[in-house]
Amino acid sequence: MLVIQDLYKQFGSLVAVNEFNLRVETGETVVLMGPSGCGKSTAIRTINRLIEPDRGSIMLNDSNIIAMEPDELRQARKRIGFVFQHFNLIGRLSALENVMLGLVMSGVERKNAESRAADSLCKVGLDNHLDHKPDQLSGGQQQRVGIARALAYEPELMLWDEPTASLDPILVREVLVVMEELARFRSSTMIVVTHELPFALRVADRIVLMDHGRIVEEGKPSQVFVSPISDIGKRYKELIEYQMNTSAQSLSGKP
Ligand SMILES: Nc1ncnc2c1ncn2[C@@H]1O[C@H](COP(=O)(O)OP(=O)(O)O)[C@@H](O)[C@H]1O
Ligand SMILES: [Mg+2]
Repeated sequence: MLVIQDLYKQFGSLVAVNEFNLRVETGETVVLMGPSGCGKSTAIRTINRLIEPDRGSIMLNDSNIIAMEPDELRQARKRIGFVFQHFNLIGRLSALENVMLGLVMSGVERKNAESRAADSLCKVGLDNHLDHKPDQLSGGQQQRVGIARALAYEPELMLWDEPTASLDPILVREVLVVMEELARFRSSTMIVVTHELPFALRVADRIVLMDHGRIVEEGKPSQVFVSPISDIGKRYKELIEYQMNTSAQSLSGKP
């Protein structure tokens, strides 16, 4: 279980995250949404201290990540997978080697790292692409390597920061399919920052909406997107209705 309390982060005079409190149950999938610049990345990056918050506590199964010394933090980070918008694969390494690299660097014996890397590439549907270099893979496949890299640690917590945002629209689906499968069939707890509404509607156990650094609303998709109480929630509801209406009209050939 992950419990974030009173998280606060300021950049200069700009308050990026404020009074952020969130509790995520083991195995739960939380989708974090909100307008660009509202503090989603800052909030999610403080969880493994890629960004150091100014104050707050982050308890992952009873240990406070914020209070950890560097050695302890390194150990804790192995339990937390992070998938970024930009996948930052190493161009001269194959998919398999890209996934192995972190494992080997963290002390996993080479043979073992290789089999774990092959397993996780298999889980994202890339078992036939182990030897491909990044430039021989599509953007969607590269991001799936990024996902496999996080999965290789069998993390108890997976953090996703707009994993489909830099992909060609036509490649987004294959990544969402993998994400959905992981959310449904793995026991990892997940926090997913995404603007993909259909994914949020289908997969989220809970939607958390942020605005100006704060959580302004949370609940099941059927609650937040149907009877929202926040301005942001109302805007998402309008967007969903608009998208459903325009799709229905185009399909029926009406203007
Ligand atoms: N390293 C930084 N230095 C200064 N300002 C930052 C930094 N990172 C983020 N910010 C600012 O903090 C606010 C929240 O940013 P971010 O967490 O990236 O939002 P989101 O992910 O929701 O788009 C924005 O106004 C952004 O410009
Ligand atoms: Mg962001």
